[in-house]
Amino acid sequence: MKSGNIVILTGAGISAESGLQTFRAADGLWEGHKVEDVATPEAFARDPALVHQFYDARRKRAGEVEPNEAHRALARLEANWNGDFLLVTQNVDALHERAGSQNLLHMHGELNSGWCLACGERFAWEGDMVPGNSCPNCHASGMVRPDIVWFGEMPYEMERIEAALRKCDLFVSIGTSGAVYPAAGFVQTAKYRGARTLEINLDPSMGSLFFDAHRHGPASVEVPKWVAEMLTA
Ligand code: OAD
Repeated sequence: MKSGNIVILTGAGISAESGLQTFRAADGLWEGHKVEDVATPEAFARDPALVHQFYDARRKRAGEVEPNEAHRALARLEANWNGDFLLVTQNVDALHERAGSQNLLHMHGELNSGWCLACGERFAWEGDMVPGNSCPNCHASGMVRPDIVWFGEMPYEMERIEAALRKCDLFVSIGTSGAVYPAAGFVQTAKYRGARTLEINLDPSMGSLFFDAHRHGPASVEVPKWVAEMLTA
C-alpha cells in the first residue's frame, strides 16, 4: 500500500538513539531539571539566564548528533508515498529535516530559531542565546527568547495538524510517552475520523489503549522495518 493519507507524530524517543536525552526517562531532562524552572514563560521572566543556559546546552548537543535510521526511514517513506504525508514532531531538534523529511511541522518549536519579544519576529539562530542577545531584526537587546513552546503556551500549526488528522487514513505515533496534550490526543482525533492507528515505541505509552496496533522496540529498528513493509505491500 503506497497510497492513502498518513499523519505521523514523533517524540523524543525517535532521537534517543542519535544521542539526545528524552524527557521522562530515569536519566531524562525532566529528572535533572524542573519544568517550572526552565520551560515556562514565568521561568523566563524570572531567570532568563537559567532558561538560556538550559536551551543553549540543548542547542549545542543537538548540533553534535546525527539523524538515525528511524529519521532516515521516515524521509524514505515520504519520498515514495503517493497520498498526503504529514510528519508532526514534538521534537525541537532538526534531525528530521537533516534526514530529508519535507512536509514537517515542529509543533513545539525549534532550537535553531529565535523569537524577539520586542518586534515579534522569528529568525534562524545558531549558537548561544545568552541574556544580552541582540535581535537581528530590530536590534533590541536581551529580548530574544528560544522559539520553543513552553508549558502554558499554544503549540504551533494546530489548524493544519487538526485538518490533516481529520482526513488521514493512518495515524502513527513514534517515540512519545503520550504525557503531553494536545499531541497525546491526536490518536483519538484520527480514530474518530476512522483512521487506523499504530504506535511504535520502546514500551507502551500512556495512550497505548487507543492504538489498533503496537510495535514495541527501538525506533532505529522498528521504524525501518515498518517502512520497508509499507513500501513493499
Ligand atoms: P518523553 O520523554 O515523555 O517520552 C519518550 C518516549 O520515547 C517514551 O515513551 C520512551 O519509552 C520512548 N523511547 C525512548 N527511547 C526510545 C527508542 N530508542 N525507540 C523508541 N522509543 C523510545 O518525550 P515526549 O513524549 O517527546 O515538550 O515528550 C513530549 C513533550 O514533553 C516534549 O515535546 C516536551 C516535553 O515536556 C515541551 O518541552 C513543550
